[in-house]
Amino acid sequence: MKFFIDTANLAMIEEAHALGVLDGVTTNPSLMAKEGISGKQNIHQHYLDICNIVDGDVSAEVLGITFEEMVKEGEELAALHPRIVVKVPMTQDGIKAIRYFSEKGIKTNCTLVFSSGQALLAAKAGATYVSPFLGRLDDVSTDGLHLISEIREIYDNYAFQTQILAASVRHSMHIINCAKIGADVVTCPLAPILSLLKHPLTDSGLDQFIKDSQKMK
Ligand code: E4P
Repeated sequence: MKFFIDTANLAMIEEAHALGVLDGVTTNPSLMAKEGISGKQNIHQHYLDICNIVDGDVSAEVLGITFEEMVKEGEELAALHPRIVVKVPMTQDGIKAIRYFSEKGIKTNCTLVFSSGQALLAAKAGATYVSPFLGRLDDVSTDGLHLISEIREIYDNYAFQTQILAASVRHSMHIINCAKIGADVVTCPLAPILSLLKHPLTDSGLDQFIKDSQKMK
């Protein structure tokens, strides 16, 4: 399973990259706005800065909502760097744009997916990634993990190549359960990835080893 980091913060991306387990980055307009990035030139430069840190795919979301706007913006984004993935919302125009990009060999990430029917359409349109929002479904008392397993089953039934990118991942159990279900990718902030490290028996065991190592010197 691939680990993507879900942030536009360059320091956090660098820290995650330094861990040596980072496979890519996802961003969205809210994450970009949080970093104070605005204006086409600054937005493009920021995506290039991210591509210069990580080796994997970097999702850059279109801001337009019509097919024409998405195509124009997406082509500009894709031309920035070969590892840019054009992130497109799950709408009627979005599905048409994903089909268009797919035929042009431009990678896409279909975002804001909350049902298996939406995920089926994204795969039919040729999306590279589909992003079901796990945490936001859990927030409204709906089982986000159940959606991930339904999508896994549907994609496996028909050997769809679209990768399931579990998004809106909030904690380490989300990551572990996504791995059990067979999500291809999880995207989340750095904290849930770092919390995979933690176990009290590791800490107490290491304390003892450090103490005993003094006897060996
Ligand atoms: C995915 O691509 C989104 O950027 C993201 O995972 C949304 O997460 P949130 O629900 O924590 O905002």
